[in-house]
Parts: sequence; structure tokens; C-alpha cells
Amino acid sequence: MKKEEVPWKYGVVLVCTNQRLDGADKPSCGRVRGEQVRRQLKQDTRSGGGAAAQCRVLSSSCLGLCPEDGVAVAVVPGDDLQVVTPGEDDAALLAWVQEQMGRQAEGGKARRTLSRLAGKVRR
Ligand code: FES
Repeated sequence: MKKEEVPWKYGVVLVCTNQRLDGADKPSCGRVRGEQVRRQLKQDTRSGGGAAAQCRVLSSSCLGLCPEDGVAVAVVPGDDLQVVTPGEDDAALLAWVQEQMGRQAEGGKARRTLSRLAGKVRR
């Protein structure tokens, strides 16, 4: 095993592209719809700037939500999932991702400051 630094700074976005067979017990987000959301979000985060421009937007297998309608999206690290409608929720999804990544960026600054301060404290 070899340790490497992650190539993303504040987190990743997982977009479910799981496609179940017709007649499956549960609904699925779908490969085509999931990829539509992933591609649009990747483009929007890159052009939107800020901390979200440095995240990765990845295709994912089932995130465990399996909505009847829509595509499940998660930000890692994070506590929430969103169900989005491709082509309708693009702006809201971008705003949510920017908020989540901005929070991670602020948390990172706070951790670095605390770490720096802790290094200056004499024991
Ligand atoms: S199939 Fe997308 S969350 Fe389960």
C-alpha cells in the first residue's frame, strides 16, 4: 500500500447512475439521467469558480435512496442526499454543492489556523 494525497481539495460529489433491469423490485436513478446530471454539474462547478470548482463529480452506484423519480446526489463529506430532476434542478444543485464545498473550505482554514496556533502554544 502506498499513501498519496487526494487530487480533490474539498470533497467529491457522487451522482447515482445505477440502472436496474426492467421489472426490478426498486426504482433506479438510471444511467442516462444520472450521467446527464453528472456532466451538467461538472461543467457548472468548473465554470462557477470557488471551492466547488476544485471538487470531483463522480458517477456512483446506488446510494441507497432509490427515488421513484429523480437522481440521487451526495456530497462527501456530508450528511445529506439530494434528489434532483435532470434539466430542472441544475441551478439549485450547483448552489447546494457550492455551499457544501464552501463549508469544507472554511473548515479547512479553521483546522489549519487551530493547528498553527497549537504549534505556537508552549507546553
Ligand atoms: S438507484 Fe440511485 S440511489 Fe439507488
